[in-house]
Amino acid sequence: MTDEKLKKIAEKIEASKKYRVISKETIRDVLATEFERHKNIKIAEEVARKKLHRIRAEYLGEPNYKKVKEALSAAFQAKDDKAIRGVCWSIFSKHSSTRERNQLLGEYYGKLFDFTGTPESISDLASALNPLSFRWMGLERSVKYHAYDVNEQFVDLINFYFSLEGLEPLGEQRDVYTSPPTEKVDVALLFKMYYCLEHRATGAGLEVVKNVPANKVLISFPTLNLVAKKTDILGNHEAELKRGAKLYNWELDYLTFQNEIVVCVSKS
Ligand SMILES: C[S@@+](CC[C@H](N)C(=O)[O-])C[C@H]1O[C@@H](n2cnc3c(N)ncnc32)[C@H](O)[C@@H]1O
Repeated sequence: MTDEKLKKIAEKIEASKKYRVISKETIRDVLATEFERHKNIKIAEEVARKKLHRIRAEYLGEPNYKKVKEALSAAFQAKDDKAIRGVCWSIFSKHSSTRERNQLLGEYYGKLFDFTGTPESISDLASALNPLSFRWMGLERSVKYHAYDVNEQFVDLINFYFSLEGLEPLGEQRDVYTSPPTEKVDVALLFKMYYCLEHRATGAGLEVVKNVPANKVLISFPTLNLVAKKTDILGNHEAELKRGAKLYNWELDYLTFQNEIVVCVSKS
């Protein structure tokens, strides 16, 4: 009876305008976890909806998909690097996470890949629109760029762009917590996401870092919040990361930028 009730609630959430673009697996996992915790269907739905609101994170901004696809097609047809970069910039600037990185793009990936070595394969975990900044990464088009997100609209736009760019369309709708990627890669990116995973379930951030088959994992944390005030989100999670490093024999290094800090986990 309870299973039936949970299934019905999950179906209702999945069918809603807000959540129909989100992986069903994510919706069901969040709901089931909250029911397990609260043992009360009403409370479980209420808390699950709050958590899904943060996962969906519509408030961070999204582009007009139809318009930006047309703009991308036109820029690629013109084979004009400046125009292509302009359109990509306008797309990833629609999302706060990437917009906050705009001012860093000149040095960001150079500094990261100086540390990791130039990757031939990447997993961008919970990527949102970050793959649209490919032209600022200084990578060859032969790179295997896996981009994972629970939001199918992001994934669709990423694959549309990757195909125009001549990259393999390796965007995939996947919940990186409940279904960790299995592709072995040189570098995994977990940008501005660790604390969101921890909000979903305590320990989920470390689980994702542990489970991703990558030699290096780059975990970024904002050092300024959405209203440009100093914030120390890493401080809330550093002890846990250090505990993981000790347990799994990882090395931790730190790269600091103007408004972001990146923890570099070396597994090998
Ligand atoms: C705060 S944004 C991070 C954006 C990106 N990493 C960046 O820094 O530009 C959160 C993104 O993670 C996605 N997401 C949330 N939970 C996820 C999960 N468990 N697996 C995959 N994607 C997830 C959301 O759909 C959203 O696009």
